[in-house]
Amino acid sequence: LPTLSMERGWVAHYLYQYQGFWHTSRQLQGVLSCQKHFEAHDTDILIVTTPKSGTTWLKAWTFALLNRKQYPSIQNHPLVTNNPHLLVPFLELVLYIEKDFLPDLTSFPTPRLFSTHLPCVSLPKSVTESTCKIVYLCRDPKDVFISLWYFTNKLRPESKGVISLQQAFDKFCRGVSLYGPFWAHVLGYWKKSLEEPEKIMFLRFEEMKMKPSFVLKELARFLGCPFSKEEEDAGVVDDILKLCSFDNMSNLEVNRYGKLSSGEEHKAFFRHGEIGDWKNHLTVEMIEQLNSITEEKLAVHGLRF
Ligand code: A3P
Repeated sequence: LPTLSMERGWVAHYLYQYQGFWHTSRQLQGVLSCQKHFEAHDTDILIVTTPKSGTTWLKAWTFALLNRKQYPSIQNHPLVTNNPHLLVPFLELVLYIEKDFLPDLTSFPTPRLFSTHLPCVSLPKSVTESTCKIVYLCRDPKDVFISLWYFTNKLRPESKGVISLQQAFDKFCRGVSLYGPFWAHVLGYWKKSLEEPEKIMFLRFEEMKMKPSFVLKELARFLGCPFSKEEEDAGVVDDILKLCSFDNMSNLEVNRYGKLSSGEEHKAFFRHGEIGDWKNHLTVEMIEQLNSITEEKLAVHGLRF
């Protein structure tokens, strides 16, 4: 490996810049292993996000819609007893994170459903060369930033104290955040989704909140399993939305008390689940600064929040 730039991260570890994006050293091992070894199938589906864009929610939606025939009842659905991150594992953070052995993916049913935070430029070759589908979810950077700030502070060792909003903000604006720069991450997939709309569906957290049934039906269509008229009449779309709703998911026993194998508590992935909490935290100057970066980096490409 070439010498990588490094910076103090938001938690306790250093971040390393690889292919233009920031990773912890452990994650980077997973990124490299995944780039080298992951063989995408044409039928695979990848959920791609930057952290705190609504990954957990989209995992739940996608798992529920792909498996709706197998699990018609929401009472004894796997999502009631499993956190979505267990049902839809991250490639580089979970499956390929161990240095010494490669994951056995043979038990995954077709279509295999995985997730990743990998930036577009770092996707394994087999992903770009196969006909596998990518669902990219983005969110207003102001909300992503606040969500990430809360999440990071939960992960920081007590001895380190909290990272202040201002400190985190300065790093975020400079692009120094997990899988940051945020704007470059979004832009990579935005451009690709315009070039290859049959391969990449570009979603927004805000649309999922405001038009849930429309977006869920679009997602099902994109993934090649549209809801039939009979299913819609029978309330299947509404059932999935109810099952995956913030209120339902955040109150499930498994999500209140469980932990991921990497140590994060499941409940850390459920905070408010709303649009616009940034209004309660950011100063006018911070809002102007984030808006102006977003305008400069994304609006010129037709992407606005
Ligand atoms: P907030 O911190 O703004 O509440 P990720 O899953 O990518 O880590 O993102 C976490 C964010 O998604 C958190 O945002 C969390 O509350 C929100 N979220 C998780 N599950 C959700 C759901 N079912 N509906 C809406 N938002 C959800």
